[in-house]
Amino acid sequence: MANQLCIVLDFGGQYNQLIARRVRECGVYCEIKRFDTPIDEIKALDPKGIIFTGGPNSVYDETSPHISKEIFDIGVPILGICYGCQLMAYTLGGTVESCEKSEYGKIEVTHTGSGVLFGGVPEKSVVWMSHTDYVSRLPEGFTVTAHSDDCPCAAFENKERKLHAVQFHPEVTHSQFGREILHNFLYDVCGFTGDWVMDDFIETTVAKLREQIGDKKVILGLSGGVDSSVAAGLLSRAVGKQLTCVFVDQGLMRKDEGDFVEETFTKLFDMNFVRVNCKDKFLKELKGVTDPEQKRKIIGTEFYNVFWNKIREEGAQGFFAQGTIYPDRIESGKGAKAGQGSTAVIKTHHNMVKMPDDIKFEGTIEPLADLFKDEVRAVGEKLGIPHELVWRQPFPGPGLGVRIIGEITEEKIKILQEADAVFRDEIHKCGIESELKQFFAVLPDVHTVGVMGDHRTYDHLIAIRAVTIDDFMTADWARIPYDVLARVSNRLCNEVDHVNRVVYDITSKPPGTVEWE
Ligand code: XMP
Repeated sequence: MANQLCIVLDFGGQYNQLIARRVRECGVYCEIKRFDTPIDEIKALDPKGIIFTGGPNSVYDETSPHISKEIFDIGVPILGICYGCQLMAYTLGGTVESCEKSEYGKIEVTHTGSGVLFGGVPEKSVVWMSHTDYVSRLPEGFTVTAHSDDCPCAAFENKERKLHAVQFHPEVTHSQFGREILHNFLYDVCGFTGDWVMDDFIETTVAKLREQIGDKKVILGLSGGVDSSVAAGLLSRAVGKQLTCVFVDQGLMRKDEGDFVEETFTKLFDMNFVRVNCKDKFLKELKGVTDPEQKRKIIGTEFYNVFWNKIREEGAQGFFAQGTIYPDRIESGKGAKAGQGSTAVIKTHHNMVKMPDDIKFEGTIEPLADLFKDEVRAVGEKLGIPHELVWRQPFPGPGLGVRIIGEITEEKIKILQEADAVFRDEIHKCGIESELKQFFAVLPDVHTVGVMGDHRTYDHLIAIRAVTIDDFMTADWARIPYDVLARVSNRLCNEVDHVNRVVYDITSKPPGTVEWE
């Protein structure tokens, strides 16, 4: 049976995926749709609740995303958040004005005690506000349920029509009782029963996969990353040896990582595991190449050449599986303007690869296509995939290739793998691993003079990089304690051959990028 559905209508706000995550944390299945999704399409999906997200625009701006009044008449409860709250008021005949003093940050609101959304919430609580317009007059039939010093309609409702709105952001953790407010909307207003449970997901997905695949074969490209690993785990549970995983090891993974992936999937799971070791071929193609873009291009092109050739060899029978996850395929309304329709920004489907025309499968299977990253991780843990793999930090497709500046050689790969392993080991030991989003070593192709015993050395410099990231656009260099840096430096110079100097990269993004190439 299909899960009960909540639709998040995306008006371009920065927290939209967060809203969807919070809804799912409440045990309710939810999907994000563009603000201009036709009403008939929405009705056909039979949602039990709809949430309008925030957005950067003003409702009075002609180019702002608007919505037909009809949506309020289809009988589905609606919660408007921030811009969504203003849009609800404006569309139904209320008034929205520019704030004399815009509210930004943590603000205290007081609720009246009558609002359904505020059940169990103290009379005064702190919420997260970020708005320059506000609702100054409510549409007919609505009543104010909360206010702040500068915002007379911080929340309002039309109980009968099940229309609710909050000017603040209940989805961010700074809103003290945000979770309760969303929960109240989903359960007390919409009447969800909370049927979105991860254990059910594994069971129902495995059953669906079995039915879809029957006695046919499935091929999956395994990268060693979280998504493809979890997809492999699910498929293995569903069809065992009918599944073949193709793992291309170009020799640019971290120390022992290729062996770890092979061991995990051959020992823990029932499947055919095909490892293609092609380090020599890659090194040949990369010989003498120093330009970063050219290196990336060669690594990417070669990877897919090897991969598709292996698929041709194995025979393209049955289905092709991929580890696509929900954020890969969301069509975001971010920056979308009315009238631009589908030409507005669409998120790049980075997990979706173009298949050569001569390779023809019966269909594609994406068992994780509805899940967010942390849900994928939860499924991975439940499937028994090792913690290190499930919580693996992001690792670029071109692997260590973007961390070796200049020509890539076997010797440099070895030095970098060893150095990176030492750094990761120290971070792991000092217990700050979970605070960092990424941490790794870089080989900048710089030699410096040093002294070892009585000898002068002229050897490699290693740079270490550790970042905390707010999103993919920004990152801050991590304030690793000096004593940890001291141990890392000491170990690198003593344990890794050809390293005589260590520097720590203290560049944030922007202006730097996370990777060096
Ligand atoms: P930058 O270096 O652009 O990296 O600040 C942002 C994030 O993306 C990862 N990254 C890549 N991931 N293929 C990938 O799959 C790539 O070519 C690539 N380049 C960078 C990087 O590790 C960081 O998480």
